[in-house]
Amino acid sequence: MIPFIAGNWKMHMTNEEGVALARRVRDLVGENRDVEIVIAPPFTSLSDVKRAIEGSTIRLAAQNVFWEREGAFTGEISPPMLKAIGCEYVIVGHSERRRIFGESDEDVNRKLIATLKEGMRPILCVGETIEERRAGKTLEVVRRQVDKGLQGIHGREIKDVIIAYEPVWAIGTGETATPEQAEEVHCSIKEWLFEGFGFEEAKDCRVIYGGSVKPENIDALMAESNIDGALVGGASLKAESFARIVNFRHTKT
Ligand code: 13P
Repeated sequence: MIPFIAGNWKMHMTNEEGVALARRVRDLVGENRDVEIVIAPPFTSLSDVKRAIEGSTIRLAAQNVFWEREGAFTGEISPPMLKAIGCEYVIVGHSERRRIFGESDEDVNRKLIATLKEGMRPILCVGETIEERRAGKTLEVVRRQVDKGLQGIHGREIKDVIIAYEPVWAIGTGETATPEQAEEVHCSIKEWLFEGFGFEEAKDCRVIYGGSVKPENIDALMAESNIDGALVGGASLKAESFARIVNFRHTKT
């Protein structure tokens, strides 16, 4: 299974800044075929960033989507619009969307289904808060988000889904889950997928980790057998640090 490293730029970068960053990332890692590299700029620079990475191995993701195809939904962006400008991936259910914009598991599920239907691949984000972890509810919360997020999808579609385990307490805080903490949750997620979809269908579904991933901790995270990649926030805004993450040292046994 080829590792998957994605940069979520969140609400950073004007169009001009984004194009410059994308070009720099391309210069550094744009020919890498050992890792699937994805960048997720804001909507406003998707088209120009797409042009900047054309011909490289870097792929484009959107940070969000609405589930309807078109209509009177002021301010929203539809799956066909994203597809038409060359997005191959869409992040759904990021904890910032759940927490700040009130997205429910049902909303996230609709977005995931609409993304798949359009022939794009969803990156489904799940993860517990610090209170939930302290209360010993990590696996219960993550299981609910995974089950509800994936509700109604067909077995053959699970290979097109990427699941990002992003503990909320590790996002933007500088505090990373230890590789062992992440591995425990990743392992459980894979067991649930095998139970729900069967080993053959689910074995190619990648489970990636997000939350303060940096050049300093990527090697140890990627050494864990069930961590298939990373969703990188802050460290993806600097081309050099993102490139170092993409070029992590392979020590998986
Ligand atoms: P940070 O890497 O800045 O902690 O953000 C993680 C994240 O939310 C990626 O989606």
